[in-house]
Amino acid sequence: MHDELKLLGGAMVTLALATSALVVVPFMQLKAVEPPAGLKPYTSAQLRGREVYIKNGCIYCHSQQPRDRAQAPDDKRGWGRASVAGDYHYDKPHLLGTMRTGPDLFNIGARQPSQDWHLGHLYQPRAYSPGSVMPSYPFLFEIKDKADPGDRVVSVPPAYSPYGKVVVASQEAIDLVTYLQGLDHTYPVIEGKAK
Ligand code: HEC
Repeated sequence: MHDELKLLGGAMVTLALATSALVVVPFMQLKAVEPPAGLKPYTSAQLRGREVYIKNGCIYCHSQQPRDRAQAPDDKRGWGRASVAGDYHYDKPHLLGTMRTGPDLFNIGARQPSQDWHLGHLYQPRAYSPGSVMPSYPFLFEIKDKADPGDRVVSVPPAYSPYGKVVVASQEAIDLVTYLQGLDHTYPVIEGKAK
């Protein structure tokens, strides 16, 4: 019986230590962090687009956390400065991601501001980046014989556009791109500080 109690006690202490190191201490450190002056709250269209990003599993291949120079050459890759806690102030849930099958997207809005490019790339990544392993998202688009008034026609490179038809972006595709265009955290922050 004595040994069981020791085992249980040890397990509880280990759990308590892990919880304070991984939950309590970070919470105390970060709870007062304010958003940096350059960070804007999401618009409702961007929030809708964020849902589309979550729903379609973009996070399984794309991170949103450029790292420090000491950890990875992310700034040389053009992904931007290392992110700080305040950058995530409006992110609930955060979309940090761990896989980098594709590039980090935390600053994709600054790197690639074109709506046309994003829509076309989502329709068919290989039309823009030969050999890309990114899946295409045809269900975010409609193939029509001809465009109706108000349709957002996507200019897909001729080799990839359906013959004699037009590719029209759905509201979901437009919202997703609005979210991507808004991913711009290139405003300055004090290194290591949140603002
Ligand atoms: C299976 C992995 C995978 C998934 C899932 C995926 N991507 Fe990608 N993505 C890539 C790869 C690889 C590239 C680089 C080649 C290219 O541009 O297509 C890329 C490139 C990109 C780029 C261009 C990045 C740059 O720096 O030029 C954007 C934007 C992007 N993806 C958005 C998305 C969005 C939005 C989703 C979800 C709807 C998504 N991706 C899902 C793998 C993925």
